[in-house]
Amino acid sequence: MKQWTLEERYRVLQGPEDIRDLHERISKSVYRQTYHVQPVTGLSSDPNGFVRHKGLWHLFYQWCPWGAVHGLKYWYHVTSPDLVHWSNAGVGMKPDRIYDNKGVHSGSAISAGDDLYFFYTGNHRDENWVRTPYTCAAKLGADGVPQKLPEPLFGPRGDYSEHQRDPKVFYVAERGRYYIFIGAQTADKRGCVLVYQSEKLLEGWQFAGQLKVPGYESFGGMWECPSIERIGGKDVLVFSPQYTKLPGRGESTNHNVYFVGRMDYDTLTFTPDGDYRYLDFGFDFYAAQIAPNTDDPDKAVMIAWIGLPDNHYPTEPEEWEGSMCLPRELRVKDGRLIQTPVKEMEALRGDAVVDEECAPAVPRPLPEACEMIVEPDDGDFDLSLFCRADGEGGLTLRYDAATRTAVVDKTGLDKRFNEAVFETLEMPLDRPLERLRIFVDRSSVEIFANDGEAVFTTHSYPTGREHHFAVSEGAKVKLWKLAASVKDDFVV
Ligand code: FRU
Repeated sequence: MKQWTLEERYRVLQGPEDIRDLHERISKSVYRQTYHVQPVTGLSSDPNGFVRHKGLWHLFYQWCPWGAVHGLKYWYHVTSPDLVHWSNAGVGMKPDRIYDNKGVHSGSAISAGDDLYFFYTGNHRDENWVRTPYTCAAKLGADGVPQKLPEPLFGPRGDYSEHQRDPKVFYVAERGRYYIFIGAQTADKRGCVLVYQSEKLLEGWQFAGQLKVPGYESFGGMWECPSIERIGGKDVLVFSPQYTKLPGRGESTNHNVYFVGRMDYDTLTFTPDGDYRYLDFGFDFYAAQIAPNTDDPDKAVMIAWIGLPDNHYPTEPEEWEGSMCLPRELRVKDGRLIQTPVKEMEALRGDAVVDEECAPAVPRPLPEACEMIVEPDDGDFDLSLFCRADGEGGLTLRYDAATRTAVVDKTGLDKRFNEAVFETLEMPLDRPLERLRIFVDRSSVEIFANDGEAVFTTHSYPTGREHHFAVSEGAKVKLWKLAASVKDDFVV
């Protein structure tokens, strides 16, 4: 594994020529995605500034141009008319101010009238590497590139630790006010959210207080990337708690959870209706962000990073890693989130290539980009993705009807990764499994159970001999090849 010096990781990009050859090289990788957003070079992590503005979807990702390493972060910009077809738009924001000298860190966007505003963390470090995180703003310019405000909106609070970042901006119509939630850590190292409010977007921001979440005063050491949205009359709070292990999540100390509940802005209290839930049960899912709702009050759209902080992936030697998940439509039903791929995804389907009851356990070719629907009878079954022609190996899913649990095991893949964190995880279901809808791309798999009641997202890096699937007796399969919808062109 390459050892990066601080200088290498924090090198400033001088222009496209610095990375043109790198892009040329990585674009030939067999693991480049075909319908998922991925880094133009280097590393992509958190989704940022996810919003619809004047009919166009904007998305940015945390981007380190140089390789599969967390270093100097930029916002890289992609756009889409439909959340399915994405085009590279180039660098969105670069670290070019003193207050963001060591990175334009995560943040969000809000469309207000004709204008689109961005709120981000300016990651400043001094010569002793002491960090000061600033909350900064920008506005989309006529050239389609965010223009930064000359000064930050506010600095960090002295009574919390240095971990104060990832502003999520939103408007609460009943109060005629804008709010910003900041992911933070208390002075005694407990995860929390800090709330700021203002009547105007670019001025007047005041600290309102620390968000109270009864029962969760001590839950993880830092809450990264908070996001809140009103969906179907309920408030949904999403965040990524870290520095703690959670039940059923192996050795991982990075998680993405949500609450359904009620937000009271008078008392700054979010009262959950029940326990926290995992947003996704998979190996690689983090930093989800919900786009501000634009049309339908019963729905919202969310996107996340397929990846985890501190983890390493097999494309690292190729000098790139990371991907965005498919944008998911969110609804609230019976106190939980229902997550489904956006409807427009169906437009990528070609003719069905398997549409019958498969002969049990006979391996069939698995296209490198496809969608699969698996419908079990009513008992146990096994599904193997990326198995070899003899049916051995691969990523296996075993459904146990008695406990209504799907166990996903990646130990059979040729390319194993993050073995010390977890290689087998469970996806428990609230009702018997009726349907799995599975999206396979060249280096990821997303499994939606029971029309979005539970989701399992993982990276996967099949080798040349791992291009089959097999399903045991007791389940029907339908499979479509999917057309490519994300251009892998060099725009910087
Ligand atoms: C989450 C995170 C954010 C931060 C960003 C930096 O993955 O650590 O809290 O703003 O990544 O890239």
